[in-house]
Parts: sequence; structure tokens; C-alpha cells
Amino acid sequence: MKITAKNLIKNYTKKNAPEVNVLKGINLEIPSGTKASLTGPSGAGKSTLIHILGLMDKPTSGEIFIDGEKINNYGNLRLSKMRKDYIGFVFQFHYLLSDFNVLENILMPVWDKKSEKIKRADELLEMTGLSNRKHHLPSELSGGEQQRVALARALINNPKILFADEPTGNLDRKTGTMIENLMFGLCTELKTTLLVVTHNQDVANLADRQLKMVDGQIL
Ligand SMILES: Nc1ncnc2c1ncn2[C@@H]1O[C@H](COP(=O)(O)OP(=O)(O)O)[C@@H](O)[C@H]1O
Ligand SMILES: [Mg+2]
Repeated sequence: MKITAKNLIKNYTKKNAPEVNVLKGINLEIPSGTKASLTGPSGAGKSTLIHILGLMDKPTSGEIFIDGEKINNYGNLRLSKMRKDYIGFVFQFHYLLSDFNVLENILMPVWDKKSEKIKRADELLEMTGLSNRKHHLPSELSGGEQQRVALARALINNPKILFADEPTGNLDRKTGTMIENLMFGLCTELKTTLLVVTHNQDVANLADRQLKMVDGQIL
């Protein structure tokens, strides 16, 4: 799926506080199947931007097109359906549910049809090298393994677009690089469009398109 953003602005307003201008007119296009990286200093607005592109937040103004279809005026129900059907997200923290094992966590987004999805979950366990860990709880895994589970969970519904916000920010460099490489490999294999926020330039170099963001603008 292609993502297009036109003149996205995001301002935060609060009573008795000055307005904060976080996104100052973002224009971008990520063609279908492209793997894009987004780098930039802390506070630049990277998370704000990918939350908006991932339909988890709304811009103050500007337009978002998914495969050329403008989605700004869609209601919350329609947006959450689009999110569920098309979008995967990996965050810096894994947000796995501690009382559920690895397999159950991966199936969480498709709990309503989990019997149909068990085969897919097994494939993803294989692809992420976790087949022998599926009955373990998150607390029984290393940080890198936990993040691989989060990646498998993000892919369970075959998303057309995967967003990842510093997915390896809490991991050591070597483990982080391994996981980001895995993510790029899986997105290539599954033809998933990818936008990943990363601080690792080696990983950004794997991307088809490298975006840099400073102070609310794409350079
Ligand atoms: N709810 C909010 N109210 C006011 N400012 C906010 C809010 N959320 C984020 N910001 C500000 O937006 C800016 C960009 O934040 P963020 O998108 O998290 O940047 P990055 O991910 O690049 O570090 C920061 O200066 C932050 O303080
Ligand atoms: Mg951030």
C-alpha cells in the first residue's frame, strides 16, 4: 500500500500554555512495497508522525492518502477497521501481555478467529526463530526475543504496512541490528511497506528510502 501525506501539521494546544508546533508541514510519499527509514534527533516529531500515518492519531490539518484514497474524513470505526486490516505496529516497548504465552500473544490481534490463524502464527514463529519458545511467558524471554514476538504479532494479520517506532531502542546494538535486519527481510519477503524510526544508521542504510526529520520537518 502506498502512503501519501500532504502538508501535515500537528499542534498541541492546552489552556494557559503556549501552542506546541510538532509537525510543520510534512509532505511525503512511500510507494507500495518500499522500505523507508526515518531518523532524526529526539523531539523532532518522528513518533507523532508515524502515529498519525498509522491512523492512531489525527493531524491538526493536512491530508493522508492510503493507496490514493483520502482517509481524513473517515470516522473512528472505519479508521479502526483499516488499522486492523492493513496496519501493523511495533513500538519501542513490546507491550506483550504477561499472563499469556508467546503463541497467545501473537494471536492476540486475531483472537476472534484464532483457530484459522494458528498455522500463520506457527509460520511467523518459524520466521522469527521462536518455534521452540511458543509456550513460554514473556518474562521467560530475553529483550530481543520479546521484541521478535512483538514483530510476529504485528505481522499476524498480514498487514500491508508495518510501522515501527524505534523497535530496538531498548536493546543492545548487536541484538537490535539483528532484529531490524529480520524486520527488513520479512517485509521484503511479505511485500509489506515499511516505515521504521531508527537511530541505527547501518539499518537506515538498508532502506530503499531514507527520510530525515528535524524540528517537525522532513529534510
Ligand atoms: N501531548 C503533547 N502536548 C504537547 N507537546 C507534545 C505532546 N506530545 C508530544 N509533544 C511534543 O512533540 C514533540 C515531538 O515529540 P515526538 O513525536 O515524540 O518526537 P520524537 O519521536 O522525534 O522524539 C516534542 O517536543 C514533544 O514534547
Ligand atoms: Mg519517538
